Amino acid sequence: MTLEKVIDDKIADLLMKIDKQKLPKHIAIIMDGNGRWASRKGLPRSFGHKQGVSVLKKILKSAKNLGCKVLTVYAFSTENWTRPTKEVNFLINLFSEVLKNEIKEIHEESIKIKFVGDLTPFPKNLKEIISSSESLTKNNNKFSFNVCVNYGGRQEIVKVAKELALKSSTGEINPSEINEELFNSELLTRGIKDPELLIRTSGEKRISNFLLWQLAYSEIYISDVLWPEFNEHEFLKAIIDYQSRTRRFGGIESLPNESLEDSQSSS
Ligand code: IPE
Ligand code: IPE
Ligand code: MG
Repeated sequence: MTLEKVIDDKIADLLMKIDKQKLPKHIAIIMDGNGRWASRKGLPRSFGHKQGVSVLKKILKSAKNLGCKVLTVYAFSTENWTRPTKEVNFLINLFSEVLKNEIKEIHEESIKIKFVGDLTPFPKNLKEIISSSESLTKNNNKFSFNVCVNYGGRQEIVKVAKELALKSSTGEINPSEINEELFNSELLTRGIKDPELLIRTSGEKRISNFLLWQLAYSEIYISDVLWPEFNEHEFLKAIIDYQSRTRRFGGIESLPNESLEDSQSSS
């Protein structure tokens, strides 16, 4: 038996365990561990970022084939500018290269791509390719792929607060009208439903300023696998784990055949 066959069989086993009716429609991923993966192999951190791109391509395909609708990935945080200039520049170049190479296939797959974050500090060529990719794919409706770059959850919330304050000061809205819905409509992710599942790789158990508002009730799955080693197998495991959770949203789990009166009379 070949290694490929063993892997295919394992994936087929996992796929059988997935309830297609209960898929998370929107999955968010903090793709972490690229640098550590490379360093452990005695390679420069940039090798980890490159390898991370090929993993992302596979996971995007897998999410779409499975029947999920939205994938949002964290590619560069507002805090990642504090890294050495060489690494930052490498990442910026990588984003342009990958987008240039992949946009044709993304479009053919009817995937809508959107970049979420403050794009102003990026070089002109990256901004141009982002803008042309977004407009090329804007009417695609099979799957949405959101890439968070120069994204920070706190910065996003501050931006919304400023926007609403401005609208209040000009009389466009009344401060008493501000509610969750209005707040949502000013977020960078406006129009996108919140993720049901957040996956973070590399074993780190933190949010690192990702989608602070949107993740309020997402299920969190931490994988110990470093992002460059993450694969479809690990991805399906995360979905199976998600499907075993009871999502209560602050309420209580309703038990079959138990009414409020029953539980009161028995106490
Ligand atoms: C995630 O991997 C990718 C980015 C943040 C751009 P890291 O680069 O954070 O890798 P580690 O966490 O240092 O191993
Ligand atoms: C989060 O990872 C950002 C991205 C994956 C793009 P970091 O590696 O920057 O987060 P910390 O520093 O471990 O919190
Ligand atoms: Mg990291």
